[in-house]
Amino acid sequence: MESSRIHKLQLLENEARSCQRCDLSATRNRVVFSSGVHSYGLVVVGEAPGASEDRDGLPFVGRSGQLITRLIEEEIGLARDNYYITNVIKCRPPSNRKPNSVEIAACSVFLTGQLELLNSQVILAVGEVAARVLTRLKTSVGSMRGQVHAMGGAKVVVTYHPAYALRGGKAIEQAMRSDLRVVGGLLDGE
Ligand code: URA
Repeated sequence: MESSRIHKLQLLENEARSCQRCDLSATRNRVVFSSGVHSYGLVVVGEAPGASEDRDGLPFVGRSGQLITRLIEEEIGLARDNYYITNVIKCRPPSNRKPNSVEIAACSVFLTGQLELLNSQVILAVGEVAARVLTRLKTSVGSMRGQVHAMGGAKVVVTYHPAYALRGGKAIEQAMRSDLRVVGGLLDGE
């Protein structure tokens, strides 16, 4: 990735670190902007930081995050340092409630900027909030899975939120694994 894009991403991150666009800024401990690299073709977009992410300042480090990270490694062969991870919302909603539409709109400048600058070919949307934002559809994850959506020039694959797999058991995990194999196939085709 060219250095000017990396610089612009850094500026966007600096802006997010002092953001007060919505009320989540009053209750967060850390802004969780991203982790991973920009050089590979995959961007993973989750919902919002949970307690562990809010504590560490990194996405996908709690129980749910560890599950999706392991599944990506097992199904696509990529360790978490090899792709870019972010969330729709950069600050933790209190008690891990779902982010509301005001918060999603306030934070959209960051996700839109990240995706434009990264210009990634394949985006994995994790859970309903990310899936709806990225596909602009208002349906369930179940009905958005099993097809490749387009967002600008990028291909978007939708999968369940790992918290659902932690509650819902092996069938959900198997479905997630199958979604990840679709992502792997798209990356191989690059
Ligand atoms: N951790 C995150 O950072 N985002 C999620 O969507 C789930 C877990």
